[in-house]
Amino acid sequence: MSHPIVFVLIEMLRRIGAVVRVPGLGVFVNDALVARAVLADEEDFSKSGPGSAGVFYEQVMGRRAFLNMDGAEHLALRKRIGDLFTPAYLKVVAHDVLAPSLGELERRLDAGETVDLVPFIHLLTGRMMCHELGFSPPAGHEDRTYHELYGLGERLISSLKLTSRRLAPAEADRARQTFDELMGIARRGTSPENSMVARLRSAELDTNEVEAVLGSLFLVGTQTVSTALPRIVALLLDTHQMGRLREEPQLMQQAIDEALRLIVPSPLTLRRVSKSVVLAGHRFHEGERVIVLMYNAAKDHHVFPSPLFFDIERHHPPAGRHIWFGVGQHFCLGFSLAQFEIRWVLEALLRAGELEIVGRSAARNVLLPAYRSLRVRRKVA
Ligand code: HEM
Repeated sequence: MSHPIVFVLIEMLRRIGAVVRVPGLGVFVNDALVARAVLADEEDFSKSGPGSAGVFYEQVMGRRAFLNMDGAEHLALRKRIGDLFTPAYLKVVAHDVLAPSLGELERRLDAGETVDLVPFIHLLTGRMMCHELGFSPPAGHEDRTYHELYGLGERLISSLKLTSRRLAPAEADRARQTFDELMGIARRGTSPENSMVARLRSAELDTNEVEAVLGSLFLVGTQTVSTALPRIVALLLDTHQMGRLREEPQLMQQAIDEALRLIVPSPLTLRRVSKSVVLAGHRFHEGERVIVLMYNAAKDHHVFPSPLFFDIERHHPPAGRHIWFGVGQHFCLGFSLAQFEIRWVLEALLRAGELEIVGRSAARNVLLPAYRSLRVRRKVA
């Protein structure tokens, strides 16, 4: 999924039409209106069953893995979980996770160091995972532990491929082992009162449910923000809109929305048609596999004119707003956390003064999915 060629194909699909059938892969949805309608229609489109990602979750995390749950069962669990990332919990995250990491980032930039934002954000994500698992890393090995945790999350998500409908037994075993390793850490954790594990237990989730939700947080949460952040920074710097944001900080929310619209860190989601239906004039047949390309829905020129143009003052109409976080009952559970984290990192970078990218940046290529490195430093006068 993270190969640039895949993104070129996705761009091509958008140019072909709103709904495109590709033999062997499924029905691709590129249009914002149809994407919304599919995601909102829980009755006719399912997240489980053959061809959906639910098969992967079931093989690795079990039948009730949260991410493969639908309908009333899923809704009931979501209600019990409630809003995981409440303002009060985000305050804890800010104090325990973000402030120490970002303090260090600012100190290094102030000292004139060049900082690679990619390993920095991996470390921050690992730290966040540790906090959610309620696990305190051994003293003196903190950074190593954070990197290892990030690596486990990355390994887990890398088993999920668009082309595979079911993992081969050996692949499923490997992914299950990675999942068990992560859950082993949660089981060994001390689960302080403010950890995610403790909060899930206090919502009266049983052990399986706690692990299903934690697994889902890692699976979806590990790579989204970490992939997005360096690219957001590069976009802002390359288009000289970082300076603009420093002068007009009230544009922060618009800048985050616009950058996520362009990048779309979670570019697609899968559904299976459980009952034939016609939506916005497009027929979907029972049993078909549907690939909703949020990446393309966010570039729908009817909703976002000149969609590849990055403008932090762009108005996002309701038809497209936050579509990259999903729609309806499966709307992103980590929405508030993701927004909060991105905002905190950008604010820290703004405080560090005028920055420049060291080496070439490929930010203008919106098709490029992830950076291996993005080195920044304070601009030398
Ligand atoms: C910019 C960052 C993020 C983006 C763009 C994003 C996007 C999405 C999308 C599109 C969905 C819906 C998928 C579907 O309908 O099939 C989703 C669901 C979900 N997201 Fe996020 N996500 C982000 C960050 C996070 C983070 C940081 C976490 C957790 C720490 C997280 C946890 C989840 C979970 C658990 C679900 C499943 C919700 C459900 O099925 O009820 N996400 N996300």
